[in-house]
Amino acid sequence: MSRPIRTLNYSIFLLALLALAGCQSESGKPAAAVAAAAVATSHSDLLARGEYLIRTTGCNDCHTVGYAESQGTLPKDQWLKGSPLGYNGPWGTTYAPNLRLRLHEMTEVQWLEFSANLRTRPIMPDFAVRAMTEEDRRAIFRFVQSLGPAGEQAPAYLPPGQTPPAPYFGLILPPPPTEASPPEKAVASAPGP
Ligand code: HEC
Repeated sequence: MSRPIRTLNYSIFLLALLALAGCQSESGKPAAAVAAAAVATSHSDLLARGEYLIRTTGCNDCHTVGYAESQGTLPKDQWLKGSPLGYNGPWGTTYAPNLRLRLHEMTEVQWLEFSANLRTRPIMPDFAVRAMTEEDRRAIFRFVQSLGPAGEQAPAYLPPGQTPPAPYFGLILPPPPTEASPPEKAVASAPGP
């Protein structure tokens, strides 16, 4: 059942290749048209890839209000508009910014440079974005741009020592180790010979 279909697909592929070869040998113009078609396809591929990455690499978990609560079913027009949920710890309090507004301010070239060197405070996994291929970061840009600018800015960062208004997550660390009588000190303070 599947074999004739595969053979058919293969024949169509061969025919397409032959047709392309024919076009290119006639003049440069059809080749340019073919190249333009390839760019158009790759833009839609990038959009699909960008959506897939945003959906699967967790960006919505923090940058989209209500995404987790909706079990990932929130419509795309609600995505990445930032969140008023604070992340409080020794670094202060951070808020996942509105990426729809942020990326709208940038050109693709600026985003590629910015995202390749992304350094943020916690709890953003900036290392994950830095580890993405340029094509993946381009795909994210294309997709977020295609959503258009929307929503408000997230609250501004608060420095350490300030208690943020609810709602926020708080990271409680154990107290730092004290220097009281570690074994080396005891030895050092023992009377010498
Ligand atoms: C665990 C929560 C969390 C996840 C997951 C997350 N972010 Fe963030 N993101 C944040 C927070 C919080 C900040 C703000 C950090 C700061 O204030 O320095 C931030 C900042 C950023 C910034 C910097 C914006 C600027 O203007 O400086 C970018 C870009 C970004 N995130 C993109 C992404 C992308 C793309 C993903 C998915 C791959 C993602 N984030 C996943 C929480 C998160």
